[in-house]
Amino acid sequence: MPDPRLDSLRAAVPGLRLATTPAELEHYGRDWTRRWTPAPLAVALPADIGEVQGVLRWASAGGVAVVPSGGRTGLSGGAVAANGELVLSLERMRRVLDFDPVDRTLTVEAGAPLEAVQEAARGHGLQYPVDFAARGSCTIGGNIATNAGGIRVLRYGNTREQVAGLKLVTATGELLDLNRGLVKNSSGYDLRHLAIASEGTLGVVVEATLKLAPPPPPVATLLLALPSFEVLMQVFQALRERLALEAFEFFTDVALRHVLAHGAQAPFDRAYPYYVVLDAAAEGPDDARLLDAFGHCAGEGWVEDGVVAQSQAQAAQLWRLREGITEALAPHLPYKNDVAVRVSAMPAFLAEAQALLAAEYPGFEVAWFGHIGDGNLHINVLKPAALGQETFVERCGAVTAHLAGLVERHGGTISAEHGIGLVKKPYLGCTRSNAEIAVMRALRAALDPAGILNPGKLFDPPSR
Ligand code: MLT
Ligand code: ZN
Repeated sequence: MPDPRLDSLRAAVPGLRLATTPAELEHYGRDWTRRWTPAPLAVALPADIGEVQGVLRWASAGGVAVVPSGGRTGLSGGAVAANGELVLSLERMRRVLDFDPVDRTLTVEAGAPLEAVQEAARGHGLQYPVDFAARGSCTIGGNIATNAGGIRVLRYGNTREQVAGLKLVTATGELLDLNRGLVKNSSGYDLRHLAIASEGTLGVVVEATLKLAPPPPPVATLLLALPSFEVLMQVFQALRERLALEAFEFFTDVALRHVLAHGAQAPFDRAYPYYVVLDAAAEGPDDARLLDAFGHCAGEGWVEDGVVAQSQAQAAQLWRLREGITEALAPHLPYKNDVAVRVSAMPAFLAEAQALLAAEYPGFEVAWFGHIGDGNLHINVLKPAALGQETFVERCGAVTAHLAGLVERHGGTISAEHGIGLVKKPYLGCTRSNAEIAVMRALRAALDPAGILNPGKLFDPPSR
């Protein structure tokens, strides 16, 4: 029996495309967390801003919960629709609308995939520098909703730094045109930044004006094998002083083993505890500055093995070792942590976190990887085959409470770039004070009085 609310939605927004088959509800109701059973009411696929406004006006009037939806590559459950919500997918709004060569900006609809934006920027001789493995599936709207980071934050910053303006439709259907691409604007609250990382709770991003950067310099790609995390940090510091780093990523042997089991080619004859893959500005693999910097690290006895890519194909192969980790771990239903501390706090934090996890997860495989240059560590606990999914998640949830306490003591965050969503909601208080959360609640209530936007995500309403 079709839900009668859908007839009223059709009447309110004539011509709106709706998807309602079981396969569509399943597809649009889940994200990459795969932990919740999708159960949306229906999927609205608006073609333009007017239809988005119409859907949200209708939802606010009728108190229908709405889950804004991009590429659903999120890892925190922010785009899950498991409670009869209406999914609002922007996938039909994916056009590149404008390029301004003087401002060096690209204006796109929010459903544009990250990779399409990168390609459009390249087509104008510039670059959109946010980058990560899900580039082909994730969308700019989703990137903005989570303030996505990725592998080039060290050099270019997070998504937040790239947004010169955005259009936001509020829960009540108002269209806000925020900052309009201005470089300087000191005219009161910057609502653009409130929307960024709000996980679709303060409005739906429908359009963005993105800053483009000059094209990247020619780079050399290196893979280094290192004995310890302390050494890894020394190498980072030494290379940062000597080279212009475009990316500096790490992973452990556990992570590499899974990528190799997934079909990648082993880079060395034997295993090492830690690996770094990095891009540094260089004229080629024989660049004198590069060899000098590498020589310094080798001379200090820090590097156990290393390879400098001799071709673009080899560089891509080395990067696949890092970028293939998420996919290679996925069959093991990993419990994902996405923490960050200041870069200076990383060695102390890592030592304590490793001790904590070794004690809490005896016999579990734990894969560490992430973005050294910006303090962001991904800690993936793999589900032992013998353990049921629910027991595993419960156990990981309890350990995460301890980990969140450690993050708090080191002044860090429980989510660096994946967002809070459903997965990290119980631990928000370890990163944000009660006073901050109270202000967030007040803002959310002001912009979404009927409480329809992504309810239950980020934080719950106060209990009455
Ligand atoms: C990454 O850095 O690869 C992404 O954040 C995805 C992940 O953590 O699995
Ligand atoms: Zn990451």
